[in-house]
Amino acid sequence: MMKPTFAMLSCACGAEQVVKAEMAEQGWRLAFSRPGFVTAKNDLDVPLPEGVFVRTASRSLGQVRGTQANAMVAELASKLAENDPNGRKFDQLHVWPKDRLPIGRFGFEPGADEVSAVVAEAVYSGLKEVWLKCDAPNRIAQPGDRVLDLVLVEPSHWFMGLHQATVWPTRWPGAVQPIQPLNEPISRAYYKAAESITWSGFDMQPGDLAVEIGSAPGGACGRLLELGLRVIGIDPAEMDPRIDQHRNFQHIRARGGDLPRRQFRGAKWLLVDSNVRPDQTLTTIENIVKHRQSDFVGLLITLKIGEYSSASLIEKWFERIVGWKPSHVQVRQLARNKCEVCFAVTMG
Ligand SMILES: C[S@@+](CC[C@H](N)C(=O)[O-])C[C@H]1O[C@@H](n2cnc3c(N)ncnc32)[C@H](O)[C@@H]1O
Repeated sequence: MMKPTFAMLSCACGAEQVVKAEMAEQGWRLAFSRPGFVTAKNDLDVPLPEGVFVRTASRSLGQVRGTQANAMVAELASKLAENDPNGRKFDQLHVWPKDRLPIGRFGFEPGADEVSAVVAEAVYSGLKEVWLKCDAPNRIAQPGDRVLDLVLVEPSHWFMGLHQATVWPTRWPGAVQPIQPLNEPISRAYYKAAESITWSGFDMQPGDLAVEIGSAPGGACGRLLELGLRVIGIDPAEMDPRIDQHRNFQHIRARGGDLPRRQFRGAKWLLVDSNVRPDQTLTTIENIVKHRQSDFVGLLITLKIGEYSSASLIEKWFERIVGWKPSHVQVRQLARNKCEVCFAVTMG
């Protein structure tokens, strides 16, 4: 008999319907779920589900409920022992709460909060001797690390799981990039840009020229400038003076589609985050990147879905982008994305 697989996934609040539909298509039977959190069973020993809206995926090792952290930690330990009598230690411990609100609503941002930080410490001290190799909870994992995951569905209801770290989001606790900005970010787009740059794997170097369409007020430009890039921001709206006055920044007060192609000469990276209909955005980018003088190597394109029930549009956008003959296309709802997705497109 093959061992069944139990999976637990986190996603943005609101995205669970799309995640569930994708899982059902991949042969998973849905079990417990809450906004931002989905579990499912597969009768076969199969890889964990993947999808544009799957933020984290772990093999579920069980759940505990209670009101006393110490008793709950003891129960986690006995579940671990049941599961693996040989007691193989985990490289990392990641603890995070499931999202409680859609991203941005009432200022909500995903990732660790005060309660999860306290729980992380309690779980770490209870398990470290027997089960953990790491020197603290919520360290960034290295590729290949076995990570013990703990998702707080409620402060009194925890799900435990296991995943192996590979690409960047699987290395961050709860797939939320830990980042300490050098200066106070101009807008939350700073975090979104930072996440998209790291996730994409784009090798941005100091001195490279980047263009952002939809650059005001300047969160993303702030990240690019912090990385030492030269930046052209294209937006009819005003930039924050801290960006506008930066010596490596130039503002072109225009709409993305209105500019002559030569404005983009020598630019390696294109970021697009304008509140324009996705089809129109794609037309603007298409005109730029298909031009014979385009030097772009990588594109980071944010496209708004509007509502999750329109997620099927993503496939059409993907096909359209493939028509530009890129060498690689990735798409993901980043942890910092609202009801939108990010395409990372490698040209050439
Ligand atoms: C979500 S905000 C961008 C946030 C920005 N990336 C940041 O990092 O702070 C969307 C921006 O798109 C701009 N926009 C709307 N239509 C545009 C167009 N056709 N071309 C360029 N920018 C446009 C708006 O003026 C607005 O500033």
